[in-house]
Amino acid sequence: MVELIPDSYVTRLDLPKIFGRAAPLNVDLGCGDGSFLSAVAERMPGENFLGIERLLGRVRSACRKAARIDNMRVIRVETAYAVRYLLPEQSVQVFHLLFPDPWPKRRHQRRRVMTSEFLRSVHRALAPQGVLRIATDQLDYFEQMQRLARADPQFAIVDPLLATPVGVDDVDLPLTKFERKFQQHAVPIHRLALRKVSPVM
Ligand SMILES: C[S@@+](CC[C@H](N)C(=O)[O-])C[C@H]1O[C@@H](n2cnc3c(N)ncnc32)[C@H](O)[C@@H]1O
Repeated sequence: MVELIPDSYVTRLDLPKIFGRAAPLNVDLGCGDGSFLSAVAERMPGENFLGIERLLGRVRSACRKAARIDNMRVIRVETAYAVRYLLPEQSVQVFHLLFPDPWPKRRHQRRRVMTSEFLRSVHRALAPQGVLRIATDQLDYFEQMQRLARADPQFAIVDPLLATPVGVDDVDLPLTKFERKFQQHAVPIHRLALRKVSPVM
């Protein structure tokens, strides 16, 4: 089974049971149709890959891809909730936040997933030295994310080209569906990578 229906939405996920083994965990937040996650999961059979997505149609597309991949699961749940309440402490090696919904209108910006509270949850869920990889086409969202990151001493901003999943060069990383679309239209893409540097207080 590739769509993950947890026993409970109020207790943390039992990752070794879900994947049938203990291995470094990569989590794609808003994985869309799972194009990126399935491609990277196939390249890295020694690691576990979890997609988080709230839209049913996209969850189904991602699950169809995951059906032929042993080390990939998909869960239909809201990102901030999953990071804060479902992922165990220090369980995640790499979070991917790739082209999160930009909410460009000022009155909608409070719907953006990246906040200081979200960063605190990410920090708790990350393993020591774990990384949050971010990409967006939305410059003002990118600048907001940079400001939040600089203000948070629990993260170091690192070179996004070096902060790749273990064993994979950035140049080799598969493109996400949105990334492909933006590249075709020569839309500039902004990238940020944050490494966890201090324990949760
Ligand atoms: C712009 S798309 C990018 C999809 C994919 N990461 C890519 O780059 O192709 C954003 C995705 O995040 C999902 N999403 C947005 N907000 C979410 C949330 N709060 N919880 C879970 N998924 C969310 C959307 O449904 C959508 O599939």
